[in-house]
Amino acid sequence: MSDPKQDKAVEKPWTGRFTEPTDAFVEAFGASVGFDQRMYRQDIAGSVAHAKMLASIEMLTNDERDMIISGLGEIKAEIERGEFQWSIALEDVHMNIEKRLTDKIGSAGKKLHTGRSRNDQVATDVRLYLRDEIDSAIIPELKRLQTALIELAEREAETIMPGFTHLQTAQPITFGHHMLAWNEMLQRDSERLVDCRKRTNIMPLGSAALAGTTYPIDRDFTAKELGFDRPCNNSLDGVSDRDFAIEFLSWASLLLMHMSRFSEELILWSSSQFDWVDLGDSFCTGSSIMPQKKNPDVPELVRGKTGRVFGSLSSMLMIMKGQPLAYNKDNQEDKEPLFDTIDTVRGCLKVYADMMAQITLKPDNMRDAALRGFATATDLADYLVRNGVPFRDAHEVVGKAVALGVKTGRDLSEMDLAELKGFSDAIGDDVFEVLTLEGSVAARDHLGGTAPKQVKAAAARAKLTL
Ligand code: ARG
Repeated sequence: MSDPKQDKAVEKPWTGRFTEPTDAFVEAFGASVGFDQRMYRQDIAGSVAHAKMLASIEMLTNDERDMIISGLGEIKAEIERGEFQWSIALEDVHMNIEKRLTDKIGSAGKKLHTGRSRNDQVATDVRLYLRDEIDSAIIPELKRLQTALIELAEREAETIMPGFTHLQTAQPITFGHHMLAWNEMLQRDSERLVDCRKRTNIMPLGSAALAGTTYPIDRDFTAKELGFDRPCNNSLDGVSDRDFAIEFLSWASLLLMHMSRFSEELILWSSSQFDWVDLGDSFCTGSSIMPQKKNPDVPELVRGKTGRVFGSLSSMLMIMKGQPLAYNKDNQEDKEPLFDTIDTVRGCLKVYADMMAQITLKPDNMRDAALRGFATATDLADYLVRNGVPFRDAHEVVGKAVALGVKTGRDLSEMDLAELKGFSDAIGDDVFEVLTLEGSVAARDHLGGTAPKQVKAAAARAKLTL
């Protein structure tokens, strides 16, 4: 996008009651065109719909309407060719486009703003912009990431790794199960986004400056033209509400919180201490001094960008908290945190979807890790319970066996039967079946459990939900 020029010669559309020109610094300080020009498509779509509505109630002739529509079409093409001259003196995307239109088509252009204000115009543009981003980019990228995770889960339904609590080995799990846990979070994020879209897709246009307008406007007509679900109910609320943006930023904060946790795991897993996964050379960078380094930049950056998104949520909440009804210029500050978050979310989802589709695992290392840390201790306790020992006693017995293992540097499965029997005569020679990693995961064979069979079924269900 081109840089807005400071253009003294441009006449502003609101100078009637002024005798002094705007201070040059104030002009630059107050202009939003540097960042709101990215909404030019939505601004033009809003104006086209408004012109059609005005013609339908005979506030414009059909000729005027057609001149406006074709003029706006030319302006859109000028912007897309990079030829449009953005002007800081014209403050924002709305006045820049409107001024260009009147320069092009004369008095018909001057009628476009009938029954409209920049206050309802900007509120409409921002909602349209966010809705379009949700539909065309964010939902598809989120689904692409979910698909990558589900496919990985299917492939690795039988791959064993240690599951952690307190980052200490807890019980063996399957890698597929772990991936599906991340998919559950993303699935909730996806459902929340669909819900957020419902409150985004409501049309402020027709609220005019704050109180509505004296013209017999047809708001249902405009809403339908723009694909909004309905016009907003209250004009004061229509121009001043930014809840939808805050809701989106809250949504993005939850998503990034999930992605940041996931990143933390990938960073750990790709360290030489864990060495469970290889993120692929195209997703890592080297060090300018340490020749051996392959750094997990992508998950680190996503973890870092999470802070930035949380910051945008705080910004928006602070921007809104002191504002009386209705529109205040403070609201111009809504755009940068919102746009930055949209860009950040899109980037994080894209890079993760690409990276997760190419990740390679080191299943032997994961398996070795699961063999350390007495991951099947709970299985031994459950075995004793099945043989009539009360759970608390079983817990105690296994604790003692683990203590011996710690002392002698052996896993439970490496002890011989006589040794194990020494801890409890409820132990028989079938005990070794429950002490294996495969036996342990296969035994958790119920809805939501880690058994490979369950993971495959859960992956199939997740695919259907997608
Ligand atoms: N650039 C302004 C914004 O982003 C547009 C609305 C201006 N309205 C006004 N009354 N000055 O909020």
